[in-house]
Amino acid sequence: MNYNTQVLMSSLTRLGYRAADIYQAFRFAAVDQPSRPVRQVDAAAFLDGPASYRTAALGVVRTAANETVQQTVEATRSLGAPFLVVIEGDEASMWTYTASGVTQLDSTSASQWQTLLADHKKFGPGPIRQLKALQVREDVPTTGLLFDPRTLYGIQASTQLALDELLTQFLSHFDGARTTAGQLSLQTHYEVLFPLVFRLLAGKILIDRADNRVSTIDPDDPRQVAATVETLYSLSPQRLQWTKARVMQLSSAWLALREGLYVRNVAADDLAFVYENTLITPETRKAFGTHSTPYSVADYVIRSLRLPEGNAAAQLRVYEPFAGACVFLTAALRRFKELFPQSWTVGKVHEHLVSHFVASEIDPFACEIARLALILADYPNHNGWRITREDLFESNRLAGRVSQCDVLLCNPPFENLDEPIEGISVHKPVVLLDAVIKTPPAFVGVVMPSGFSTHKVYREHIRRICEIYADVEVMVLPEGVFRHASIGAEVLIAQSRRDNSIIGEGSSDDSTIRKSIVRRADWPRFTQTLQTSSSDVEQVNPRSSPGLVALRPLRRLWDCLAEFPILDNVVELHRGLEWKTAQRDASRSEASAGFRRGLHRRESLAQFEMKQATYIDTRPSNLRGGAIKYRWSSPKIICNAARTSRGPWRLAAVVDMDGLYVSQQFFGIWLRETAESPLSLVELCAVLNSPLANAFSFVHDEERRFRVEVMKRIPIPQVRISRELDSLVADYMAVCEEDDGPLFFSRPKSAADLLLEIDAMVLKAYDLPPKLERELLRFMNEGQRPSRAAFGGYLGTGRDDAAIPLHKRLVMCRTNIQASWRTLTEPFPKGVADVFGLA
Ligand SMILES: C[S@@+](CC[C@H](N)C(=O)[O-])C[C@H]1O[C@@H](n2cnc3c(N)ncnc32)[C@H](O)[C@@H]1O
Repeated sequence: MNYNTQVLMSSLTRLGYRAADIYQAFRFAAVDQPSRPVRQVDAAAFLDGPASYRTAALGVVRTAANETVQQTVEATRSLGAPFLVVIEGDEASMWTYTASGVTQLDSTSASQWQTLLADHKKFGPGPIRQLKALQVREDVPTTGLLFDPRTLYGIQASTQLALDELLTQFLSHFDGARTTAGQLSLQTHYEVLFPLVFRLLAGKILIDRADNRVSTIDPDDPRQVAATVETLYSLSPQRLQWTKARVMQLSSAWLALREGLYVRNVAADDLAFVYENTLITPETRKAFGTHSTPYSVADYVIRSLRLPEGNAAAQLRVYEPFAGACVFLTAALRRFKELFPQSWTVGKVHEHLVSHFVASEIDPFACEIARLALILADYPNHNGWRITREDLFESNRLAGRVSQCDVLLCNPPFENLDEPIEGISVHKPVVLLDAVIKTPPAFVGVVMPSGFSTHKVYREHIRRICEIYADVEVMVLPEGVFRHASIGAEVLIAQSRRDNSIIGEGSSDDSTIRKSIVRRADWPRFTQTLQTSSSDVEQVNPRSSPGLVALRPLRRLWDCLAEFPILDNVVELHRGLEWKTAQRDASRSEASAGFRRGLHRRESLAQFEMKQATYIDTRPSNLRGGAIKYRWSSPKIICNAARTSRGPWRLAAVVDMDGLYVSQQFFGIWLRETAESPLSLVELCAVLNSPLANAFSFVHDEERRFRVEVMKRIPIPQVRISRELDSLVADYMAVCEEDDGPLFFSRPKSAADLLLEIDAMVLKAYDLPPKLERELLRFMNEGQRPSRAAFGGYLGTGRDDAAIPLHKRLVMCRTNIQASWRTLTEPFPKGVADVFGLA
C-alpha cells in the first residue's frame, strides 16, 4: 500500500507534532542487532529536535518482504518510538514494547491505518513525553500493555557499545604497534588525535543527518570535514604537519569511521560519553585522578532531584566542578530541556543553557574535550559553552564557585592534596563538602569515596547536611563500576534545603534519609533501568538523632542485637607482638634461639584454618610494648587484626591449641578465667567467622586495622550454639586439608556446604527475626570470604524470596535432594519401563 503523503503528515500534525519534527523515509541504525544494519521507517514523529531515539514518539512502517510483522517491530526497536504502526498487506496494526516484549495493541484494515492514531490523549507529544520519562525511586511496570521506558536504556547501552567499538576501530589506525615512521601514533600524538576524533565525529553526525551546513563539502576528505567543523563551532584550528603518509593514514581511518555505525538516530549526548570511555589516557587519569562517572549514575542523580518546571527551572544555575568530559552537565542538559517552558525555541534553549550551565576543570585537554562533548550533546547549536580551566583548590576557589550555583553536580578527585594548603582540608572530597556546608546550593549531587556514609572523616559533614537538607540520599555503588578504577563510591544527593538550616530545639522538622544500594549483580540492571537493588527510607529528626544513624547499614539488625551479650563479656582480646626491629627480621622459617612458633603475616590465616606457621622473634630486647606478657602458650583464638578485603568479609579466626605467638597483624583471644561463658573457643571462633560478626566489623570499623573496642562490642549469642558444631568444624578443616590431597578421596559434603551449615548453626543461636537474617545474608552475599572453601553466597536472599532462616532453608534443600533421589531410585512406571525394555 502506498501512502498519501498529505494524509501521513496531517495524521501526525493533528496529534500535535510540529511538521519540522516529522520525517518521511527516516533511516536509523538498529543498534541492538549484531551488524547494526540501517533500517528505514516510512515516517517518524519526534517530540522535538534533534531527532534521536530519545525523542522518537511514533513510527509508521511497512513490513519488509521477508519479515513477519513481529520481526519488523523487533527490528524497529532502536528507533526509540514507544508506538509503531505496521502495515502488512491489507492489515494495519499498532504495537508497543512492553517488559515482556513486543506487544500488539490494536489492528484495523490497511486503508484505515490512520484511525489507529486517532487518540491524541495517548499518542500526542505530551503523553508520550511522560511515557518515556524513566522514573527513579519508583517501580517500573513489568507487565501489561504499557510501554516499558527501560527500552530506551537498552538502546542507550547498545548505542554506547557501538560508539565505543566505532572509535576503537578508528583509533586502531593510530596504534603505535601498527604505525610506521612518520605516521601519527596514539602514544605520541594523542593530544592532536583525540580532539580530531571529536571534530570528525561531529562531521559524521552532520553528514549522517544530511545537515545542509555540510552539503557543499567533500565528505571523502577528512581534513576538510574537520576544518568545516572548526569553523562551524568556532574552534581553534589544529596545528599539525600533514605529510603524505599521515594524510593516507587519516583517510583510511576516516573511511572506517564514516562507513561504521550510522549515527543519524544516536542521541547527541551519547557522544559526549566517549571521552572518558575511549579517549582518556592513562597519563591524564593518573595525574588528575580521572575516573569517569557512569552515565547511568549521572542520570540517576539528575532524575532524583525534584527540579521545578517552566520558568522556575530557568532560574537555576548549574555548576560542574572537576568536570572531566562534563558527564553530569550533559545529563542535566537533557533533563533541563524537558523542564524548560515548552514554548521555548531551540535557539532560546541553547542561549539559556550556555549562560546557566558552567564547569571548571584543571586539565586543558579535558576542557577542550568537555566543550566538544557539550557541542555534540547540544547539536545543532553553536558553541558558547563556558568551561573554565582552573585549579579549584588554589586559594579555595571551589568555595567561591559553589556559592554561586543552585545545582551542584560533580565527581571530585578522591586523593589528598600533594601539599597542604592553608585553610582547607588536605582531603579533596572534604574540601568540596566544606564548600557545600558553607553556602549550600539548593540541589546537590556529588560522588564521594566508598565508605563515605560510615567513615568518621565525614561524620560531622553528614550530620550538618542532614540538618541543612530535608531530603538526603546516599547511594552506594559497587566496586569496579567506574571504568578504569577498581574503587567503589557513594553518591550524595541532597535537596529540599531548609531556609533556616539551624533546627530549633524540639523541632519536628524531620529529614527523609534514604540509603540505596546497587549490588554488583544488579549493576547491569541499574544501567538499564536506574533501579537500585534496595532503598531504605527513614524519617529522622536531625536534632535528636543524627542523620548518619539512618545511613548505617543493617541498622535494624544492630538495634535488635543491642541487648545481646558482647565478646568483651567473655573474652580478653589483645593485639600480638610488635618489634623495634625491621618487620622482615621478625620471623624465620627455621627454629632458632629466641624465636617461637607463631604467625607473622596476615596471609597465614584463613577462616578455621592455619595456613603457615613460622618462627617469630620473642627476644625481649627486640620487642616493643608489653604484648609478650599475655598467655600465648594457652589455648586461644587467633583472628586477623587488619581487614582481608575492602568488602564486608574481613575476619578470619582459628582455634589455636599449640601455643602460637602472633604478630600485631593478629589478635589473641582468650576465654576470661572469671567469666561463665556458655560458649566454647570453637563456638566463639565460629561466631567470629560468621556473617554477623563480619558485617558488624564492616559497618562499625572503617579503617584498615581493626579497633579493639569495636571487636569487643561484637554481639554474641545468648545460648550455646550446638554440640554438633565441633564435629562440623572438624569436618570442614579436614576437607580443607584434603583440598590438595588424594585425587579420589571424597566426602559426602563439600567445604562450601559445611561452611554454610556452620553459618546456619551460628545464626540459629542468635534466633534473629527471619527478615533481619535475610537482610544480613543479602548484605554478605558480596565480596571475597577469607576461607579456603569457595563461597558462592547465600541462596534465597532476594527481596522477593520468602524470609526463611538459613538452617531451615538448608533442611529444605536436603529434603528436596532426598526426594529427588528417592524418585530416581523408584521403579519406572510400567509404560516407561516397556519402552526401555526393562519390564
Ligand atoms: C574523578 S574525575 C571526574 C571526572 C568527571 N567529572 C566524571 O564525573 O566523570 C576528577 C576530575 O577532576 C579534575 N581535577 C583534578 N584536580 C583538579 C583541580 N585541582 N581543579 C580542577 N579540576 C581538577 C581532573 O582532571 C578530572 O577530570
